[in-house]
Amino acid sequence: MSDLPKIELHLHLEGAAPPDLVRALAREKSVDLSGLFDADGGYRYDGFLDFLRVYEGATSVLRSPEDYARLTRVVLERSAETGVIYTEAFLSPDFCGGRDLSAWRDYLAAIREAAGTARRDFGIDMRAIVTCIRHFGPDKAREAALCAAETAGDFVTGFGMGGDEGRGRQGDFAYAFDMAREAGLRLTTHAGEWGGPDSVRQALDDLRVERIGHGVRAVEDAALVDRLAGDGIVLEVCPGSNVALGLYRWATHPIETLRAAGVKVTVSTDDPPFFHTDMGHEYDRLAETFGWDDDAFREIARVAARAAFCDDRTRQELLERIDR
Ligand code: ADE
Ligand code: ZN
Repeated sequence: MSDLPKIELHLHLEGAAPPDLVRALAREKSVDLSGLFDADGGYRYDGFLDFLRVYEGATSVLRSPEDYARLTRVVLERSAETGVIYTEAFLSPDFCGGRDLSAWRDYLAAIREAAGTARRDFGIDMRAIVTCIRHFGPDKAREAALCAAETAGDFVTGFGMGGDEGRGRQGDFAYAFDMAREAGLRLTTHAGEWGGPDSVRQALDDLRVERIGHGVRAVEDAALVDRLAGDGIVLEVCPGSNVALGLYRWATHPIETLRAAGVKVTVSTDDPPFFHTDMGHEYDRLAETFGWDDDAFREIARVAARAAFCDDRTRQELLERIDR
């Protein structure tokens, strides 16, 4: 399935960091990362909260715009190898300069330049969704939103929230999301991954997002599924992530039920090396589990292209590449 053109809407840039790169940066900076890796050199964690801890530990070696430029290039190169032609990467001012606006601009410039080079070398487009981290709290989210608002444009096109869905409520972050919306940014938030249907409802009602990161647990509530389908809310579904973190098994993953109910589902990897996945692997498992064929995958890619936080010219090019 790696030859099918793919659109990825949900990829955390730090979460896509290959362990080899993280170890190389740790060596260069003499940072001790013991306890983060298993015997095979992959990331080691036990459940979602431990995953967040290991994620933040690995991210701690990314300390300069140059580090992020290296990361961006390798992530986009690997994505392109699996057929991805467009990706939206979550970037966090929390990790890129500690929410200091001037430092954030430097990180962003380096990431953007690396993305431009990757476009030329590997044929993959990238846009950035600035992301606040839920368990860092609403005050830090506001600072992240200010970084997003100040740099909104043709590269930074969205604002979102990741982190521990068990902390607080979506509405606690309404100020940050309002600021981002007013700056012209398009909105998404993680919901319905570790929280149930109510978390998805809060995301729609209190943050007024147009896409939901994951959203799969909406399946527990038929009225909510009807609402998602009726309102055309797009779900950024990451099946391999859900399976790796123990939320579902492949055979019972709700993506097929949601799709059959008319919900706009898309497919992404979330944090590929953490979950031993990539877009080719996701497609293979979906084909095996649900019998999806090339036409089904092309339609998934069209849904994603239409929902992408990009300009219409880029969108048209993506749609043409999907059907070429
Ligand atoms: N940050 C990185 N991956 C995440 C996930 N699956 N859920 C919430 N926050 C995340
Ligand atoms: Zn995510």
